[in-house]
Amino acid sequence: MKVIHTIKGLQAELSVLKAQGKKVGLVPTMGALHAGHASLVKRSVAQNDVTVISVFVNPTQFNDKNDLIKYPRTLDADCELLEANGASFAFAPSVEEMYPEQDDRKFSFAPLDTVMEGAFRPGHFNGVCQIVSKLFDAVQPDRAYFGEKDFQQLAIIREMVKQLHYPLQIVGCPIIREEDGLALSSRNARLSVLEREKALKISQTLFKSRTFAATHSVSETQQFVEDAISAEPGLRLEYFEIVDGNTLQRVNSWEETSYVVGCITVFSGEIRLIDNVKYKEV
Ligand code: PAF
Repeated sequence: MKVIHTIKGLQAELSVLKAQGKKVGLVPTMGALHAGHASLVKRSVAQNDVTVISVFVNPTQFNDKNDLIKYPRTLDADCELLEANGASFAFAPSVEEMYPEQDDRKFSFAPLDTVMEGAFRPGHFNGVCQIVSKLFDAVQPDRAYFGEKDFQQLAIIREMVKQLHYPLQIVGCPIIREEDGLALSSRNARLSVLEREKALKISQTLFKSRTFAATHSVSETQQFVEDAISAEPGLRLEYFEIVDGNTLQRVNSWEETSYVVGCITVFSGEIRLIDNVKYKEV
């Protein structure tokens, strides 16, 4: 595996391979890689001849400066994981490389980006679309891989690809969990032992709510989750919404649509964690 820091350097390598007809998969990441990322890399390696993983902590998607400063940066360990999983290139650019000048582009995919994370993290998805579009332009992959843990992000990127006519396929990959159910996240590394123990309640509640939902209404299920999280000292619920998995708009009944997902954001101590569960799937 080669580690490359410039767009020109990456494009020089890829143009030779593309001229040979090789298919390119891209896995955009912010580093601090874990088994969840490894599953995206493995999927790309299985489906493409060449896999590029970008490792870049994108400043424009952080609406909280402290979060950006504290975001873990572990390039050496990341490269080990990537190499072990068959990656071809790790693309680790500097901020100046990706943003030689301020990016003033505005992306709007309303109503997908105005709800949930969009409401609580103003500008976040604009920053995600800025960097992901730059990566698509630089790499021009055949396929790009994103995790379903960031369920809303995946829906918005699919919409961006559709509206901007990017000639590539978006591949959504299932959430990878610890054995005890905690969804893998780079932020988990910042949880204390106690905060991690508390955080377990998030996935446990979501799983229980699936059984509960089978015999209860949407609003009762909503209440069930809200009550369970609020009852746990140390956890603070930011939102829980039961939405149509395509439009991300709230549903009022299970019959309303064939794809229903519950999306949640909870603080365990200071650490903001997201997760989701599917109640009904197409
Ligand atoms: O999901 C992430 O890690 C980031 O939002 C992404 C897609 C790599 C863009 O910075």
